[in-house]
Order: sequence, then C-alpha cells, then structure tokens
Amino acid sequence: MNTSSVNQSKLISPISSSLDLILPQLPNYPFTEVERINGGKNSQVYRLTSHTRAQFALKIYFQHKAEQRNRLKTEFLSLKFLKDQGIKAVPKPYLKNESQGWSLYEYISGEPIRDFQVTSQDITTLVDFLLQLKNLSKHPASHDLNLASEAQLSIQGIIDNIKNRLNKLLEIPKDTIENKLLNQFLQDDLVPFLSELIVWCQPCLKEKLMDFSNEIVLEQRTLSPSDYGFHNALRQDNGELVFLDFEYFGWDDPAKMISDFLLHPARMIDFSLKQQFFSEILAGFSENKTLSTRVKIVYPLFGIKWCLILLNEFIPEQLLRRGFADINPIDKRERQAQQLAKAKQMLTQIKGDYEQFPYYY
Ligand SMILES: Nc1ncnc2c1ncn2[C@@H]1O[C@H](COP(=O)(O)OP(=O)(O)O)[C@@H](O)[C@H]1O
Ligand SMILES: [Mg+2]
Repeated sequence: MNTSSVNQSKLISPISSSLDLILPQLPNYPFTEVERINGGKNSQVYRLTSHTRAQFALKIYFQHKAEQRNRLKTEFLSLKFLKDQGIKAVPKPYLKNESQGWSLYEYISGEPIRDFQVTSQDITTLVDFLLQLKNLSKHPASHDLNLASEAQLSIQGIIDNIKNRLNKLLEIPKDTIENKLLNQFLQDDLVPFLSELIVWCQPCLKEKLMDFSNEIVLEQRTLSPSDYGFHNALRQDNGELVFLDFEYFGWDDPAKMISDFLLHPARMIDFSLKQQFFSEILAGFSENKTLSTRVKIVYPLFGIKWCLILLNEFIPEQLLRRGFADINPIDKRERQAQQLAKAKQMLTQIKGDYEQFPYYY
C-alpha cells in the first residue's frame, strides 16, 4: 500500500498522529511499502518496508480520555527491560514518541496462532516464557517497573474490584428489557454467589495461614504480561513463538496470571492443554507453597470478574469507548443479550467447578 492511500481519517484520536507526520521522523525513511496490519480499538500497527527491504513495526496508540495508564510507555519500557535482560521471544523496541503517541519496534514475521492450533509444545514454551519473567523479577532493575494493569495483590482487592464493577452495573436504570434481565441476573445469581464465595474461601485461607486483606509479599509477586496468551503471539517460519502486546505488563499476583489464562472467555484452548499449563506453571513456582491454594481461591473470583467484564456492554461509557456510540438500538440489544448469555454461561461453569478446582491432574 502506498502511504497516501492509507485512510487517515481513522487515525484521529487524542494523542495519535498521522502517518505523514510520523514517517519522515523515522530512520530508513522513505519507505517503499506501508501496510496496515492491524487496526484495533487501542492501536493501529503498520509494517514499514525500507528500500533495503528492512522491516519495522510502527504502533500508533489511542489514548482514551479517562484512561490513567500510559500504555505506550509501559509497553516500550517493558520490552526494553526484557530485551536488556536477554529475553529472545519479544520484539526489540527502537524508538518512541509519547507526545505523538507512537513507537517503532522490530517487525516479527510470523503467523497468528488460532486456539485449535495450539500444541502441547506451545504450552511449554508459554510457561517457559512466564518463568523467565518470574526469574527476572529477582533482577534489581525490575523494581522500577510498575504494577500490571488491574493487578490485584490481596483477596480483598479482588473483591473490591468486583464490587466496583458490580455497582456500576447495578446502577443502570431498569428501563429496557435487557437492563431488567441484567439486573435480575446480578441480584438473583451473581450477588448471592459472590457472598457464598466470600464465606467459602475463609477456611481455605485459614488452613494455609493466608491473609484475606494483606497484599502478597514482594517475593511472591511476579512480572506478568497481563493480556497474554496465543492471541498475542506469532509463530515464526522456524516454528518459534514471539510474544507481543506488553501494554499492561508489570508486577502481579501469579495466581491472577494463572487464573486469567484458564478463564479467558474468548480463548478456546483444549481442557487438557489448560491442565498441562496449570501443572507446568505450578512446577515452575514450586517454592511458593501456597500458590495452588491461592489459585483455587481466586479462580472463581476472577470467574465472576470475567462475567462482569462481559457485561461491560451494558455500561453507556463503555459502549462509547468501544466505538459503539451510534450503534443501532436493535444491534445494541442483540449484543447485550449475547453478552448476558455468555456471562450466565460463565457463572454456571464457575458455580459447577469451583469446589473441585478442575485443572488438577
Ligand atoms: N512487532 C510486531 N511485528 C509484527 N506484527 C506485529 C508487531 N506488533 C504487533 N503486530 C501485529 O499487530 C497486532 C496487534 O498488536 P498488539 O501489540 O497486540 O496491539 P493491540 O493492543 O492492538 O492488541 C498483533 O496481533 C500482530 O498481528
Ligand atoms: Mg493484542
């Protein structure tokens, strides 16, 4: 694609800049090819090819007004840290411009990985990568890194986060059928289950002398990419995986990192592969004697959190943020009904399996 043929009207956002402004600032300019390879809600990614056939990935970030996190800075500095420490399976960061909202990275030539293509070897590779991050958490430079996005380091913190999300949904006026059904689901199903979980986890915590309110100590935290998995990886021609998307990277509770992989509602990884993931990651954290109990406790709580994330579609400001401000009311109702059905399915699954954590062999 020629630079001038790129639809630039879509690039307008609070801090993003147009390609015409960005490209001349880059080494190797002018480029023979500028190809958009991704245009999501949070960023646009372009493959740039120079006349020497060198390739680069240009990522233009959209900063949402209400957002506190600087995703660009987090991603760039996290990748710099990882590369400085010798991590191979991530792209090299080259240049960033925070005021214009873009960064330049090594271009990774590879294929996306669909859930059904994930192999047992891929799970091992992913776990090895997470364990490399865990080892880096011992490195002094890691202490300059921030918390991961939505990091929750105490059980109380997870519950507070759930309650905040829940309250936003409970405040929605019951002025449509969908909103009434939403309210009914929350009041009759989700809220009582949350109360049940809060009671259920107490003896488990006591048995292992774990704390409800205090945050886990530094030695038990790990570095987590947060939004990780095969949707944020590419398979190179030689078969090796490269991991992408470090906008939410930082310190976190490994129990959250593990639960999120097992629960993510959009990821259809085979049950046996998830079991393998759980067993390998636990083996890698074997010195953390309470981790498996902690996962067992937080797993249903994060299940509830995922239900509430699925229901974001009911919150007017979230619809705006997702670019659905002008969505036709019939489509909106359909989307809401679908999301409610997914949340119900998730809650049913969690209710059914939380007492017998399903991923132990
Ligand atoms: N360094 C890169 N090299 C090649 N492709 C990339 C690179 N970075 C991103 N991409 C492509 O763009 C997509 C979106 O990038 P990602 O960093 O995941 O951003 P988002 O936050 O929008 O999900 C990736 O799935 C991948 O296909
Ligand atoms: Mg991504």
